[in-house]
Amino acid sequence: MNIPFEVFREPAAMRARAEDLRRDGRKIAVVPTMGALHEGHLALVRHARARADVVILTIFVNPKQFGPREDLSRYPRDEAGDLAKARPAGIDLAFCPSAEAMYPAGSQTFIEVRELQQPLCGTSRPGHFAGVATVVSKLFHITRPHVAVFGEKDYQQLAIIRRMVRDLDFGIEIQGVPIVREADGLALSSRNAYLSPEQRAAALSLSRGLGAADAAFKAGERDARMLVAIARAPIEAESLARIDYVELRDADELSTIERIENRAVLAIAAFVGNTRLIDNRVLAS
Ligand code: PAF
Repeated sequence: MNIPFEVFREPAAMRARAEDLRRDGRKIAVVPTMGALHEGHLALVRHARARADVVILTIFVNPKQFGPREDLSRYPRDEAGDLAKARPAGIDLAFCPSAEAMYPAGSQTFIEVRELQQPLCGTSRPGHFAGVATVVSKLFHITRPHVAVFGEKDYQQLAIIRRMVRDLDFGIEIQGVPIVREADGLALSSRNAYLSPEQRAAALSLSRGLGAADAAFKAGERDARMLVAIARAPIEAESLARIDYVELRDADELSTIERIENRAVLAIAAFVGNTRLIDNRVLAS
């Protein structure tokens, strides 16, 4: 739809605009991001564009989801470049607040999705998912969407947001968009920008591991330990890569499983140099 493009920085102004649009009967989709946009984010924008009258992109590097030894200060930031990419992909409005606008002094409320936040990335990044759930719920209150679009690369994040929305009756449709990969299989990530050419080559072992496990699954392997061992092998063979976890879990509850009976997610996190990368594949009969 034709509304003048605008960047909002204050939550109250963004919410007032979104409420006006809702009153006019417009369907709103939000695409929450931390910027450093790549083709994976643009796929989210296009997905949103096809499902709503108004697409709001949010760009906010959320300090509450970074641990004390994580990459908050060096996380890539390029708002002008991001908006130049996102506008032709189909956004109508952008919300790019400061940390002070999002978390005024005295902010102390967190949302926790108690069980889903524990395993996988929750183990090595304590507090991360409470930070994500909290900021996403704030972004939902501020942008007042009917639909929200997230990437399936952050599989656990998506599961947590779906559960939060269900448990707290947000009344927002959550859409997941498949992982976008480079031609050689590397899952797109803003953190790929940190990789040297040698590290990038080593990072390919994550998608190779998932591909090998998927091939074994398609050939009939259902045993979790076997599938995990198959996925680990190419990563362990890389001297520049160090596994954080490789786990096969129930696709919805993220609980441990011994065999795949129905749908499972094979999830990987690994460090390549100092860069922590994640990737996953759903294995379903
Ligand atoms: O996936 C991300 O980029 C972030 O975790 C999100 C959902 C924008 C919350 O800060």
